[in-house]
Amino acid sequence: MNYKAQVADALHQALPEVDLDAISAKIEVPKDTAMGDFAFPTFILAKQLHQAPQVIAENLVDQIDVKPFKQVVANGPYVNFFLDQANFGATVLKTVLETENYGHNTDGEAGHVTIDMSSPNIAKPMSMGHLRSTVIGNSLAEIANANGYQPIKINHLGDWGTQFGKLMVAYKLWGSAEEVSQDPINTLVKYYVRFHAEAKEHPEMDDEGRAWFKRLEDGDEEAHELWQWFRDESLKEFMDLYDTLDIQFDSFNGEAFYNDKMDGVIETLESRNKLVTSQGAQVVNLDDYGLNVAMIKRTDGATLYMTRDLAAAVFRKKNYNFVKSLYVVGGEQREHFQQLKAVLKEMGYEWADDIEHIPFGMITVDGKKLSTRSGRIILLKDVLNDSVQLALQQIDEKNPSLADKEKIAHEVGTGAVVFHDLMNERTLNFDFKLEEVVRFEGDTGPYVQYANARAHSILRKAGQLEIDFNQLTISDEHVWETEKLLADFEAVIRRAWRDREPSVIAKYVLNLARTFNKYYANSKILNDDNERNARLALVLAVSQVLTESLRLLGVKAPVEM
Ligand code: ARG
Repeated sequence: MNYKAQVADALHQALPEVDLDAISAKIEVPKDTAMGDFAFPTFILAKQLHQAPQVIAENLVDQIDVKPFKQVVANGPYVNFFLDQANFGATVLKTVLETENYGHNTDGEAGHVTIDMSSPNIAKPMSMGHLRSTVIGNSLAEIANANGYQPIKINHLGDWGTQFGKLMVAYKLWGSAEEVSQDPINTLVKYYVRFHAEAKEHPEMDDEGRAWFKRLEDGDEEAHELWQWFRDESLKEFMDLYDTLDIQFDSFNGEAFYNDKMDGVIETLESRNKLVTSQGAQVVNLDDYGLNVAMIKRTDGATLYMTRDLAAAVFRKKNYNFVKSLYVVGGEQREHFQQLKAVLKEMGYEWADDIEHIPFGMITVDGKKLSTRSGRIILLKDVLNDSVQLALQQIDEKNPSLADKEKIAHEVGTGAVVFHDLMNERTLNFDFKLEEVVRFEGDTGPYVQYANARAHSILRKAGQLEIDFNQLTISDEHVWETEKLLADFEAVIRRAWRDREPSVIAKYVLNLARTFNKYYANSKILNDDNERNARLALVLAVSQVLTESLRLLGVKAPVEM
């Protein structure tokens, strides 16, 4: 629902000599509603039209067809537009309720967007950074989809590297299969830490680690089996977390997947004379881009994180033919992705421009980094469990007889953490206090979920719902702000994609929940008068948009809580 476009159209008809987009770009939403719903500043035309802004404003008002508006008035150098509230509101409600996938658009023309997300490292705990990547990536995938793109979610697991050789040595020395399968990641981390401690005394262990990694690279059966097992066990744990969040992936092709796909990269670079030897290593010079050299092959011939990312980018282009390729990875890897794009450019790939690093800031929990609270590793799992417990406590206080309490506490607890993560602009660093995040009041996910549950409870009380779409006018002016927000949804979804910012949706939905709650507090929705039908339509429309907004963030919207 684009009312701004109607304003722009009306102005353009009166001013055919001025470009429609130029008009559109200048239309403002006045802070003071007494100035109307939209305002157009005429002084920007003074030069072009050789007239005083006040005169332009008066002339425009004479020419503009007032029909879709309640009022169009000149106010000094401005033209103020007042929407016809009752009419507007009814149209909004009808549109929300009758449009399939209200708010979505088809801008993306079904183009493929690959989203590299989550991508934790095997045999290591998943960090807050990986959680952020997971939830931001998942939300961007939904937002891409709502903008008509086809997202492909790729988990680029860190499943290769010399650390696997060390882990094998450690496992051979002190490992127990039972211990690993009981608590895979903690156990593997324990082995790894012990390996490092003991290798300090016994440097020959490092040689052994290298030898095992070589065996792995050469396809030795035992080494491969161990690697596969470490990978499977770790992945199982990661899968638990993805299940908790109800997040799925289209591909788990991690770094190891590109083992046999790097030769092509090196050949292309060689044939274009881009590889130079520097202290025994093979590098690409990126002076022209103002970047440090990118190392492609180490002195010992081993390939690197970068080499694998180059092979992955080429593979993704070939396999998915993406129109955009997103990498949701912490800001500390900014240079890596700048280099990645630059090397792809050097390889002659124009589509390197379609690669986008989507960086994000760091989260701390109670002022501390996640992985090391009092020297102990806290797992993400624990944060989510605690959050679910807090949600359960509040439900027990507020609504002790609620059926299916556990399931709803799960949706509220995990939703709270996800919502909080997405609410802030993604590049900000922020601290995280669980008690604040899981509250039912304030800027929280549970607050939005609660507003939605309340809407559903009214609808349940209303009983059989048969909305008459010809009776949607609500005269209570307090409803106006809510209706306007409903009308904004399409623009919000576009903006969220344009800025690659789930926070745009999160802020919007908080605002909608707050505005609706304010209206709700002052009106008798179920009162038996001739606007009851329209008020229920509003409640239904609000609950749909709240639910869809939460869905775009990867947060569930229980109908009761
Ligand atoms: N595994 C890496 C890490 O934990 C992130 C990988 C990101 N994706 C990529 N294609 N480089 O830091």
